[in-house]
Amino acid sequence: MECSNPTFTMLPNRRKFLEILTKGTVSASLLPYAVSGCKATKVSSKRVRGIAPSSDDALVLAEELDYNLLIQWGDPISEQDTFGFNNDFIAFLPDEQKTDEGILWVNHEYINSLMIHQETVTDKTLEQVEQEMYAVGGSLVRVKKENGQWLVVSHPDNKRLTGLTEIPFNWDTSIEGKQAAMGTLGNCAGGVTPWGTVLTCEENYQYFYSDRSSSDRNITPSTEGWEKFYANPPEHYGWVVEVDPATGTAQKHVALGRCAHECATVKELEDGRLVVYTGDDKNDEHLYKFISSEPGSLREGMLYVANLGVGMWIPVDVEQQPLLMAQFKTQTEALVYLRESAKILGATRLDRPEDIEIDPVSGDVLVALTNNIPRENYFGSILKIEEENGDHAALTFKATTYLTGGEDTGFASPDNMVFDRAGNLWFTSDISGSKMNQPPYSAFKNNGLFLVMRDGSQAGEVIQMASAPVDAEFTGPCFSPDGSTLFLSVQHPGEQSSSLEALTSHWPGKPGSIPRSAVVTIQGPLLQQIQQLG
Ligand code: FEO
Ligand code: CA
Ligand code: CA
Repeated sequence: MECSNPTFTMLPNRRKFLEILTKGTVSASLLPYAVSGCKATKVSSKRVRGIAPSSDDALVLAEELDYNLLIQWGDPISEQDTFGFNNDFIAFLPDEQKTDEGILWVNHEYINSLMIHQETVTDKTLEQVEQEMYAVGGSLVRVKKENGQWLVVSHPDNKRLTGLTEIPFNWDTSIEGKQAAMGTLGNCAGGVTPWGTVLTCEENYQYFYSDRSSSDRNITPSTEGWEKFYANPPEHYGWVVEVDPATGTAQKHVALGRCAHECATVKELEDGRLVVYTGDDKNDEHLYKFISSEPGSLREGMLYVANLGVGMWIPVDVEQQPLLMAQFKTQTEALVYLRESAKILGATRLDRPEDIEIDPVSGDVLVALTNNIPRENYFGSILKIEEENGDHAALTFKATTYLTGGEDTGFASPDNMVFDRAGNLWFTSDISGSKMNQPPYSAFKNNGLFLVMRDGSQAGEVIQMASAPVDAEFTGPCFSPDGSTLFLSVQHPGEQSSSLEALTSHWPGKPGSIPRSAVVTIQGPLLQQIQQLG
């Protein structure tokens, strides 16, 4: 098949800036001395002081850090559109040669019908379902730093993608008889391509139109019940979706397979081909990587699934795998029912593979394994994949545990990760709202934001830097290119509220107000100290 990307605008002049953002492509020259060989002169002797876990209904930060609310659910972004619900992944796409102005892409993952309709709903109307469909997807908003603070500015770039936006499949064969899907949903984490587009990942798609296997065509009712009004096939969801921030156009990439994709982490090889790592966030599901056969293609190439036991990437390819050919008639089917393909190929079952980051210094691939409660893994870990000879296109690797959650390390259930300009690792935790502040999670209190220093006397130590409001989870950590601002999503505060009269959180509003997910900007001298910024 010929590589085609007709609706996408190449932005080569953004490329240098995007190298900072595209995961795992930070060059040594962009890093401060701490990771470029001059440790003796630049590493600070001042200790980083974190915070103790907190159960307060507040965003608590380490000293010398402050936050500002950038945008929250329901805020207008244009005359016709508002910011969506449950914001997750954030990508900052700076304007050429600027660090203080650009477009922010923000995912809107799932809904909470009590909050959206502001009443307990038992039998949804079409209008209510369409309100919910509008609440998911993603937002594009232009942001600018003025007098030291970030603002969302009115601009034609400000747009929404929702559960109602028609999005074509980037594939020759139709999916369930259609060349396009209605909408995107379950938009959890994501990635950024070297050409400045965003990858937004459809994670728990089954909540909206249910799911089914390749052999059983029946659909059981979904949690949200959208199928009662729109007979969209489940196979239209669970994809990696590419969005061009310049136009708002999107496409679903079938070549990356269909599962509850948490993220899509892109590494560009020297010859321009791409490697994309992605995990399926469900108990006992798998880790995948796509290797393109052509430069810059998210269509031409091969998808592989990890077997950690033998340290091999196994091709999900009906031509090479007789067992797959016996089950599926076509490669398209093997990709649509990717979980079934992975099981047939004997892939390693993992403890909820969530976010993936490539260490900008070592090239190691870190994978957050959040937990697997049925298997009594409550606290999770971070897996380290070392590709053979450091080659991300290698088909063999070594897997070890990088960090283990638990009371000794002070965190549980790791999820989203990001490296800062000094190569320090930041990660968030995702203890479920229904289990937070209860055994065995009591000691961790609310979810948090954690830092692992790369160098200095605290190297390898896990330091809690922030605590989230009640029931909330921090998601989508994203640094501005100069490292001076950390954009962070605060998702699902008050999620365990049983009614509007019994709200568990009011964040970020006053007592009595409905809680709202929001994006905050974190700044302060401590960010400068940690990254050794000038
Ligand atoms: Fe949407 Fe796996 O977190
Ligand atoms: Ca997540
Ligand atoms: Ca999560």
